[in-house]
Amino acid sequence: MKKGSKIESPKGKLGVLMPGLGAVSTTFIAGVELLRKGKAAPIGSLTQMGTIRLGKRTEGRSPLIREFVPLASIDDLVFGAWDCFPDNGHESACKAGVLNEGHLEAVRKELAAVEPMKAVFEREWVANLDGKHVKKGKTKAQLGEMIMEDIERFRKQMGTSRCVMVWTASTEKYQKPEDVHRSLEAFERGLKENHPSIAPSQIYAWAALQSGVPFANGAPNLTVDIPAMQELAMKKGLPIAGKDFKTGQTLMKTILAPGFKARMLGLNGWFSTNILGNRDGEVLDDPASFKTKEESKLSVLETILQPHLYPLLYGKVHHKVRINYYPPRGDNKEGWDNIDIFGWLGYPMQIKIDFLCRDSILAAPIVLDLVLLMDLAQRVGMKGIQEWLSFYFKSPMAAPQLTPEHDLFIQLMKLKNTLRHLRGEELITHLGLEYYD
Ligand SMILES: NC(=O)c1ccc[n+]([C@@H]2O[C@H](COP(=O)([O-])OP(=O)(O)OC[C@H]3O[C@@H](n4cnc5c(N)ncnc54)[C@H](O)[C@@H]3O)[C@@H](O)[C@H]2O)c1
Repeated sequence: MKKGSKIESPKGKLGVLMPGLGAVSTTFIAGVELLRKGKAAPIGSLTQMGTIRLGKRTEGRSPLIREFVPLASIDDLVFGAWDCFPDNGHESACKAGVLNEGHLEAVRKELAAVEPMKAVFEREWVANLDGKHVKKGKTKAQLGEMIMEDIERFRKQMGTSRCVMVWTASTEKYQKPEDVHRSLEAFERGLKENHPSIAPSQIYAWAALQSGVPFANGAPNLTVDIPAMQELAMKKGLPIAGKDFKTGQTLMKTILAPGFKARMLGLNGWFSTNILGNRDGEVLDDPASFKTKEESKLSVLETILQPHLYPLLYGKVHHKVRINYYPPRGDNKEGWDNIDIFGWLGYPMQIKIDFLCRDSILAAPIVLDLVLLMDLAQRVGMKGIQEWLSFYFKSPMAAPQLTPEHDLFIQLMKLKNTLRHLRGEELITHLGLEYYD
């Protein structure tokens, strides 16, 4: 991507296509509608509230990000979704229990207007759900074509000029890349032959990319994190990103762990446990889905702390993550962390965090930012893995030869420097020696 390339302006409607009309997606849609009515502020959204410093500190130039780069306006967003249950957006949001009655009532009409299309769903991949609002096709290739037809119909009905797909459906069971994922050719053969290792999320992603729609993955499923999808994204010139929205406990980890490392404080162990009672919690109660989430959550500390460089400080970290489904809590999760650190002369210390968080409240602004930034990426012609969007993910995708970047502050710098690069501004290195010459 050349510095200061021309960026096409965001004209017309931007379609947001979401497999999964559950807690996160309905909280996101409701929030956007409340914003449009002037009944809420976009708290938690970097694209809406964040500024970006340009030039030297003495210049005092810090525009809002949304004024610095041409992002679609939230007034131009239109929504489409698929779900294996037939509840419309309002019914689903009521069941999710994230938003209060006042908020739900204020956007009842807009939420109810989002009727989910029939899902590509297999119980095999999400054991704890038994949805019946499901497409029937002889092969996975046929199911993919049906999703492509849905996308085309949505485009016509809504009169969109561009679309972005964000996976907001349940976490699928754990899978490792196999031969069928290694090339586009093998994958497309697998679709026709109903290969058992092609997950529903991969059928949606394939259909999106074939339809010219960028794809971001909010769950820890492999989905586009396989060579076949990367090949397809490059071939179609489309951005892909993932995986697993960085909210709650992992967000805290990627804020604290870089701090410990910066001060060369040691870590003996980090025990994280969660209770949550939403449908996501129910799905994660199944060991196969939990395994996918666990892998995503565990990778964070190791990559931030780099035990190979600091064996004395981080060579023996006991890292445990537990998720317990506890229905009375609903979407209001409680995450406890016990962190055993050590300092000067090896003296031990403990930090306890009790985060009474609201998962979907943390995830909704991430969906908004990803939609707007993936759309920007597609207009600029950025294709393949969008590493600069790692900021939003627990398990950021990166080129095969790279270790992913997990440190929230490096991720933010990378994101902002990418925006500066796109607009032809100098990158900010934080060197600052020139102020003292
Ligand atoms: N809430 C957060 O903070 C957070 C953070 C990181 C990741 N996530 C991930 O985001 C996803 C959504 O979370 P949520 O809290 O909204 O969950 P949810 O259970 O409320 O919603 C998911 C929806 O997806 C539907 N679904 C499942 N399989 C489907 C398929 N194949 N096609 C279409 N629909 C399907 C379910 O019926 C459900 O309505 C989950 O995978 C979750 O792990 C959430």
